[in-house]
Amino acid sequence: MSAAGIYVHIPFCRSKCRYCDFVSVCASDGKQKRYIDALVREIYTGRKIFDGEADTLYIGGGTPSCLFEGAVKRIADAVGETFGGGIKEFTVECNPDSFDDKKAAELKAAGVTRISLGVQSFDDNILKALGRRHDSSQAKDAIRRAVGFGFDVSADLMLGLAGQDERDIDAFVSFVSEAGVEHVSAYMLKVEEGTPLALDVKNGLVLPGDDDCAALYDHAAKRLSDNGYVRYETSNFCKDGKRCLHNTKYWTMCDYLAFGVAAHGKTGKKRYYNGSDTDGYIKSVNDGTHVYETEEILSDEEELKEYVMLGLRLDDGVDVREVERRFGIDFSIYFEKGLKKAARYVVFDGEKLAIRPEYALVANSIINMFV
Ligand SMILES: C[S@@+](CC[C@H](N)C(=O)[O-])C[C@H]1O[C@@H](n2cnc3c(N)ncnc32)[C@H](O)[C@@H]1O
Ligand code: SF4
Repeated sequence: MSAAGIYVHIPFCRSKCRYCDFVSVCASDGKQKRYIDALVREIYTGRKIFDGEADTLYIGGGTPSCLFEGAVKRIADAVGETFGGGIKEFTVECNPDSFDDKKAAELKAAGVTRISLGVQSFDDNILKALGRRHDSSQAKDAIRRAVGFGFDVSADLMLGLAGQDERDIDAFVSFVSEAGVEHVSAYMLKVEEGTPLALDVKNGLVLPGDDDCAALYDHAAKRLSDNGYVRYETSNFCKDGKRCLHNTKYWTMCDYLAFGVAAHGKTGKKRYYNGSDTDGYIKSVNDGTHVYETEEILSDEEELKEYVMLGLRLDDGVDVREVERRFGIDFSIYFEKGLKKAARYVVFDGEKLAIRPEYALVANSIINMFV
């Protein structure tokens, strides 16, 4: 059995960005402390759900960098004491607004190896319109700081923003490449219902259309490639083989354990979700009544389809022999219809099935031909 990943969710931010519907709110230090107490308590019970090895730890959110001093170390200690010291990649998501020298030193001392920074854009007008708390110069400082402290660094770029053009992408790619950032996640803006952005759009805000978004993505992929970044998943690019080991576990359907509110986990065929009610979570962990909000056991067919669906988002594609071994099927027979329908969009040599790079942006439509 391969080692599991551990995901820990922090549902706090200093303020909400206009586009974001992730589970996060502004909260006092007191509430943060109560949450971390409950979270650590849940982690210490982790052996009840998983008794194997774990080798990646990912603290996401929300904004883990806005937690009070010492919180990340408490989480790391709880994970270490429960699952042993075999963590080889330890990522913390940080906002440039809450990543100063003190925070960087604190995270380094807690054993963090990798910082994922929400940069989004280098256009100050765009950052302001998105409701980001930082400008481009703070984001650049945060990037230099993260690299200077010796972390592996990933920077998030958002695409399809109102007023964004190729120059924004060029500025981002040149800077991160020269600064020594080895990993970039490039996300297409999603207008989430109920967000202020959705209201802006309803009130007439014009966003780039599908063709313009496709052009921005292609441009970003090309510029990243010109600067030595290799795409390994539809939205993820890295240099020097520095893939995110933790996220790769999701995409290859390894086990991942989830702790904290709004966290999703999977062990074997079981998938579970911790729910999004922070107060309810704190109370139930403290009084010993905590249960997952949803739990489901995947059927063989569901697991197989998900494996292929996730694998097709990877540039390496689906390992056909592994699928045959894991699910006891003959791949070519089982997926005969899909293989015919998608023939011109994929590479299939009997060992590997992968979407041709030029069709990466329409991966979902191609995936639907198989599942
Ligand atoms: C948890 S945040 C990263 C850390 C920190 N909270 C921050 O924003 O700086 C994860 C990333 O998801 C992306 N994201 C969030 N909402 C999105 C949306 N509606 N569309 C596209 N990307 C989004 C942003 O790029 C963001 O950096
Ligand atoms: S994008 Fe990051 S900082 Fe902004 S609200 Fe979402 S989680 Fe918080």
